[in-house]
Amino acid sequence: MEFTIKTAAPEKFRAGILVAAAYADGVLPAATAALDKASDGRIAALLKRGDLDEKAGSTLLLPELPGVAAERVLLVSLGKRDDFGDKPYRDALGAAAKALASGAAKDAGVLIADVDLETRSLPWRLQQAARILADGAYRFDALKSGKDARKERGARKFALVIAGKVSTALETAVQRGQAIAEGMALAKDLGNLPGNVCTPSHLAHTATELGKQFKFDVEVLDRDGIEKLGMGSFLSVARGSHEPPRFIVMHYKGGKAKAKPIVLVGKGITFDTGGISLKPGAEMDEMKFDMCGAASVLGTFKAIARMGLPINVVGLIPATENMPGGRATKPGDVVTSMSGQTIEVLNTDAEGRLILCDALTYAERFKPACVIDIATLTGACVIALGKIPSGLLANDDDLAAEILKRGTESGDRAWQLPLWEEYQELLKSNFADMGNIGGRYAGTITAACFLARFTKAYKWAHLDIAGTAWLSGDAKGATGRPVPLLSEFLIGRAEAKGS
Ligand code: BES
Ligand code: MN
Ligand code: ZN
Repeated sequence: MEFTIKTAAPEKFRAGILVAAAYADGVLPAATAALDKASDGRIAALLKRGDLDEKAGSTLLLPELPGVAAERVLLVSLGKRDDFGDKPYRDALGAAAKALASGAAKDAGVLIADVDLETRSLPWRLQQAARILADGAYRFDALKSGKDARKERGARKFALVIAGKVSTALETAVQRGQAIAEGMALAKDLGNLPGNVCTPSHLAHTATELGKQFKFDVEVLDRDGIEKLGMGSFLSVARGSHEPPRFIVMHYKGGKAKAKPIVLVGKGITFDTGGISLKPGAEMDEMKFDMCGAASVLGTFKAIARMGLPINVVGLIPATENMPGGRATKPGDVVTSMSGQTIEVLNTDAEGRLILCDALTYAERFKPACVIDIATLTGACVIALGKIPSGLLANDDDLAAEILKRGTESGDRAWQLPLWEEYQELLKSNFADMGNIGGRYAGTITAACFLARFTKAYKWAHLDIAGTAWLSGDAKGATGRPVPLLSEFLIGRAEAKGS
């Protein structure tokens, strides 16, 4: 995939297809007005007739528009002028991306990034455009045997056409958008791969290869190494599986040697059966997505390495299956975490927190600027928030506010839930320092409360991505979230301090 920025007169731009925007009320942005003029008012006439639906993201394909050099024009609705904002802009780009991904044109001139959106800068618009268009071209057919499935379709070359001059700030924005889409594609690939392919060793191999490609250090610990660290909680989850666990440590050093790193921790359960507290059968296949937190860390590393961000980031991934078996942890078993705190495992299906808590203790050694963990942690989060925002809980309000802001900016949003002390008592155990579940109430909060007991040494935020990491039904597949949010957060940190 190739992205460029071009300054050109829209009607003279040669391409397989031009993507032009129109408001529902018939108002034409400057670039579309130029096409309209060149074609003797053809676009305005079509709009007047009602050929383009009003809803933002509706499209109309116009082959061979007279007076226009491009072979086709794809008209995309931005919705009503008065309602225009981030969402209609993204919807329009998403619709264009979809049409371009399946269409005949091999190269596209995209005019809609230069539409006026007063609240957002041109670099923002270009970064979003590059990210959404590149992401729209994503396909996962690695496991289909048919030749057709593998045939390259759709546009591969995108020129973002603007009226003004090209600058380095604009070029950086487009590169960032592309890098983030690349990170999302890696996260999606890993999420979509089934549990028999995407094992803990596969995640480790992916990390190692990424480190080689982008020249950052990666350490991989096996069962012995994990045991030596005293990660009894993590290992208690791995006991039932024949697939060996891995603890992956990645060091991206783009910042000054002394600058404190940001640590990202990703839940890497490559398949969650529930263990002895076995899950019901319906939709259990979707538990192959239980490593999407890990995948988002790997995807974010790819994005920041591709961008060459001047910042230090450590990535931690505890990876294992959660299986029943003769040696599996049983309900009521008590395990000792790396922190020394003991845990009564009341439900083996609350395994994510058991592997994360040891990784969070390990994170202390880096004296981090902050730690963010990302996990498909609770079904309760999907009930509470649905599949729109990720759940956010944090022990530091400034950090939470910063993440919420980057979420809105990137379009990959989060929503904060309280992490109040009052909820802690739900984790009480008669036999150990804590239980691993908190009963029926506030499942997402009690899961975070559990983690909070291991994150007292630093500023920490937790993203519950159980609802956002993948889609079900006809559109079943990983979303690549929250790679855009994490990447935007790190871009913000890199620009703020040059850390
Ligand atoms: N991976 C699941 C959470 C999950 C479930 C994500 C469904 C997306 C869809 C997690 O390991 C889990 O099983 N959590 C339990 C916790 C409970 C036993 C306290 C849950 O949410 O049911
Ligand atoms: Mn589980
Ligand atoms: Zn799980």
